[in-house]
Amino acid sequence: MSASNELEKAATAYALDAVRLDKQGQKGRAITLYQKAIESLLQLVQLYPEYGLNKVYVQRAIAYQERIKALQGSVSSQEMNQAASDDSDTGDGGAATMDGPNPGAPTKNAEELVITEKPNVNWQEVVGLDVAKKAVKEAIVYPVQRPDLFPLGWPRGILLFGPPGCGKTLLAAAVATEIDANFYSIDAASIMSKWLGEAEQNVAKLFTSARKSANDGRPAIVFVDELDSLMGNHSNEVGGEIRVKNQFLKEMDGIMDKGKALHVYVIGATNKPWDLDWAFIRRFQKRILVPLADHSTRLNMLKHYTETLTIGRDVDLDELARLSEGFSGSDIRDVCQSVQLKLIGEFFETGKAMDKEAKPRALNMADFRQIFEERKPSVSLDMLTSYNRWFDAFKAL
Ligand SMILES: Nc1ncnc2c1ncn2[C@@H]1O[C@H](COP(=O)(O)OP(=O)(O)OP(=O)(O)O)[C@@H](O)[C@H]1O
Ligand SMILES: [Mg+2]
Repeated sequence: MSASNELEKAATAYALDAVRLDKQGQKGRAITLYQKAIESLLQLVQLYPEYGLNKVYVQRAIAYQERIKALQGSVSSQEMNQAASDDSDTGDGGAATMDGPNPGAPTKNAEELVITEKPNVNWQEVVGLDVAKKAVKEAIVYPVQRPDLFPLGWPRGILLFGPPGCGKTLLAAAVATEIDANFYSIDAASIMSKWLGEAEQNVAKLFTSARKSANDGRPAIVFVDELDSLMGNHSNEVGGEIRVKNQFLKEMDGIMDKGKALHVYVIGATNKPWDLDWAFIRRFQKRILVPLADHSTRLNMLKHYTETLTIGRDVDLDELARLSEGFSGSDIRDVCQSVQLKLIGEFFETGKAMDKEAKPRALNMADFRQIFEERKPSVSLDMLTSYNRWFDAFKAL
C-alpha cells in the first residue's frame, strides 16, 4: 500500500473514532484523536502538495482544530490527564472516561450549513452565454412553467462546466430568480469539512428539505459548486467521501424518478469536468459548456460594467474588447472596477472629494490602457483546449 493510502486510512480511522467518542461525551480522548487526525491530514498535504482534495483536507483539519478548542473550553483537567494516559490506545478497549451528559457533539444540521439565500440575479445581468441560457431554459424554466407539455419528463441534473470566472454561478443564480426557486447553495469543501462524520446524513437532509419545498409548491435548486472535489474519482476517502457520493447519486435518482413532477433540480458547477466520475456525469443529462467570452460578448460586458461609470468620448469599447482577448467575465468586471478605483483614489488625493458637490473627471482611454498593461487573462489557451475536448466527448445540450 502506498504511503498516501496509509495516511488517508489513518486519518479516516482517527477522525471516525474522534467523532464517535465526541458524541459519547468522551471529550479528552476525542481531543487526542482529533489531534492525530489533524497530524495525518497535514502530513498527507505536505507529502502530496498537488493532490486535488488537499483543500478539503486542510479545511477538515481546521474544523477539527476548532472542535478541539470548543472541547477544551469545557474539558476538565482530570479528563485531559486520562486522555494523555491512553494516548497510544486508539481502539475501543481503553478505560471509558466518565462524563456527564453530552452537551456538544459536532452535529450541525443541514439548515445551518447550507446557504439558502435568495439570489437576486436576472437574465440581463448574465451577458452572452446564449447557448447555455437557452439550454437552461429548456431544461428547467419551461418545465416549471408548463409541466403538462413534457409527457416524457425532463432533466433534473444540469452540469455547468468551463473556465473560472465565466458565469457558471451567475447563471445558476439567474435560473433560481427566474423560476422563483429556493436556492440551496453548497460547495463540496464545506460538505466534507464541516459536516464531519455526518456528511451523508446531511446530504439526505438537504434533499429532504429541497423536496419539501417543491411539494409545497416552490421549486428547489440544489447548487453544488466545485463538484469535482466531491464527485471525482477517489480511490480512498478520509471520513466519508464515497458514502457522500453514493448518497448524492441515490438522491439524484430519487428526484429523477419518472411519474413524479417534482421540481427539484441539481445544478453542478465545475472547472475540472475531466475529474468527474462517470456515474455522476451520466446523471447530469444536460452538460453545458460555459465558455470564455468572444469579442462581441466582451464588448457587451464592457458596456454592462461601464454603464454606471462616467466615461469620456475617447473611450473606444470596441478597442477595449480587442485588448481583453482571453479575459473572462470576472476579469472584465475587475478591470472596470480597478479603473474606477484608481480614478476615485486620485480624486481623493487631490482633496476635492471633500467638496460634496465636486465630481471626479470622466474615465479616458489611457486609464483603461494602463490597467490592461498590468493585467493578464486568468484563463490559458491550454485550459480552453481541454474544455473543448471534454465538451466534444461528453456534451449533452
Ligand atoms: N457572462 C457574464 N456576464 C456578466 N458578468 C459575468 C459573466 N461571467 C462572469 N461575470 C462576472 O464575474 C463574476 C464571477 O462569475 P461566476 O462566479 O459566475 O464565475 P464562475 O464561472 O462560477 O467561476 P468559478 O469557476 O471560478 O466558480 C460574476 O459575479 C460577474 O460579476
Ligand atoms: Mg462559481
